Amino acid sequence: MSVLLNRTKSFICTKSFCKSLLVRNYSDVPKKFKTFDEVIAQRREEARRSLVVQVNSESSFNELYNYCSTHATVKDVHHYKNFNDEHFMLMEFASEDNVKEVLQTCCFHQKDADIMASKSPFVWFRATPGNKNKYEATTKSLAVKDGNNKVDEDELFGNLMECHTVSDQIQMLYDKTKLNDVGIRLRFMLARQLEVMMSSLYANIAIYPFGSSVNGFGKMGCDLDLVLTNNVNYELLDTNRRLVYQEKKCEGGRSPWQRHMELVGTLLELRVAGAARVQKILNARVPIVKYSHELTSLDCDLCYNNMSGVYMSELLWLLGERDQRVRPLTFAVRRWARTVSLTNPHPGRWITNFPLTLMVLFFLQQRRHDGFILPSFNKLVAAAGKDDIRIAEESVNCTFLRDLNKLPADSSRSEDNLETLLYHFFEYYAQFDFQEKAISIVEGVPIRKPNSLPLYIVNPLEQALNVSRNVSFEECERLKMEVRNAAWHLEAVLDGKKTEDWGLLGLLEKQSTRGVKKLLRVGHNHRLVSVKDLFAEDEEPKRKTDQQIDASVKDIKNAMVTKKETKERQLKFKNTQVANEVYRIKRNKL
Ligand code: GTP
Ligand code: MG
Repeated sequence: MSVLLNRTKSFICTKSFCKSLLVRNYSDVPKKFKTFDEVIAQRREEARRSLVVQVNSESSFNELYNYCSTHATVKDVHHYKNFNDEHFMLMEFASEDNVKEVLQTCCFHQKDADIMASKSPFVWFRATPGNKNKYEATTKSLAVKDGNNKVDEDELFGNLMECHTVSDQIQMLYDKTKLNDVGIRLRFMLARQLEVMMSSLYANIAIYPFGSSVNGFGKMGCDLDLVLTNNVNYELLDTNRRLVYQEKKCEGGRSPWQRHMELVGTLLELRVAGAARVQKILNARVPIVKYSHELTSLDCDLCYNNMSGVYMSELLWLLGERDQRVRPLTFAVRRWARTVSLTNPHPGRWITNFPLTLMVLFFLQQRRHDGFILPSFNKLVAAAGKDDIRIAEESVNCTFLRDLNKLPADSSRSEDNLETLLYHFFEYYAQFDFQEKAISIVEGVPIRKPNSLPLYIVNPLEQALNVSRNVSFEECERLKMEVRNAAWHLEAVLDGKKTEDWGLLGLLEKQSTRGVKKLLRVGHNHRLVSVKDLFAEDEEPKRKTDQQIDASVKDIKNAMVTKKETKERQLKFKNTQVANEVYRIKRNKL
């Protein structure tokens, strides 16, 4: 995460950068290592000092900055747009009190008597006509403009084409697609928004992001996993404090937390600005509430008391911090897996990003000719001290070393570059004995499979569980085939021919597919035309006047399914999605 904190500016693969890759000493551990807890605490504190203000446009900055400065000290302002092209300023103030002072100046919209405004760190800046020149131009400028923008795919592929080596391509992919500072800030703002809303109802609630939003393996636009948990605040447990809150017992047949999550879902529908399309999936063992947050264009999954998910994110983050090659390599593998449809945005009988990441970590634990890259999980457990003890729900022991500076130095660390590692990753799994062996980052070596499931990847925190138990025989066979294909592709690259599908390009998107997608990109913002845009009759597509929709696009349009068929598919898909989600949760907790 310190990588995420400190290296927020993506950079172009300049010659000097590429050169620095060659001389990079991969075994450098950052001198002053920040623990996951410290990073999360810092992000939460930053969110408490921040507000998200919807504005008319980017040029509202001067007025907003001056207006807020009359009440508080503004530290930094980050601009972003959501999917609806609406503009927002993420404002960081000097202190939490500053935020309170600014919020005290808030009012509610008076046009409609039925409006019941919510107290939240999401507000909007009202225009006052004729007031424009009241403020002088500030010398302060936006810290970031368009901070939530994903990299343009054509630009990305252009840059990858210009790289000199596959290692440069892998590093470039990581630098250009990883979740940036604004992306992380917004995720913590969403957690903050729920915490503010819930704090009026519960005395000891905390909401933490987990998963790819914080584990260092998240890309721009990744979903937000949130966990709502009882914050064990030791001050509140202090027996010298004589006054104790009365408790409200939750009665009724269903488990109390099912009912609380039902309430949370309803509150999201009624009281949380920006929350839309709320789905309550409560009959699963771990009830979850899914929603989309329109002010930030984020899809969120909120669950209750899944602290083992948070500790798992911490473990992944820690291993990513251990060596600079871990995250770029994982990004390349995850992106390749998406390209060849090994992973899919929707849950099913295929592998997902989390077990795939464990496969990369496991590969990096294997002995290379000049040493190891990552330690086994057992080594982290053996080095743990009493400050590292963490017990999650259902007594799951999540104790492992948190401070990497305390890990005994490696006698030898492999210096292989990213290109070699990616090739060997594919080669390793092309030869892996999936039939007999399980993948376990606990030992860092293949172990005997305890059952005959096609793919067995040990959950390091609950070692009796297989995190890939949903993967079907067919999907496992496809995995084996695709790693072989990828290894062949990279082997050809090592022969030196630089074609359109050179290096990583051929693994991420074949030139032929890139061509079609490029044709489908229209308009100034290079957004992909969705099927809905192409067929909408009742609603004018936003950019219907675009003359750039050339003949090729029309041909593609004609060849596509009819509107009726599309609607039927959408309907079916919605049901399947819910069913799959329930299945996934059941599966995860079996
Ligand atoms: P993307 O959302 O695909 O970007 O990756 P992700 O790492 O966020 O994966 P996902 O949203 O599926 O899961 C969120 C987090 O929950 C993971 O990072 C893990 O920490 C945890 N998790 C996911 N699946 C399992 C599982 O089977 N067992 C356990 N214990 N934890 C899991
Ligand atoms: Mg996720």
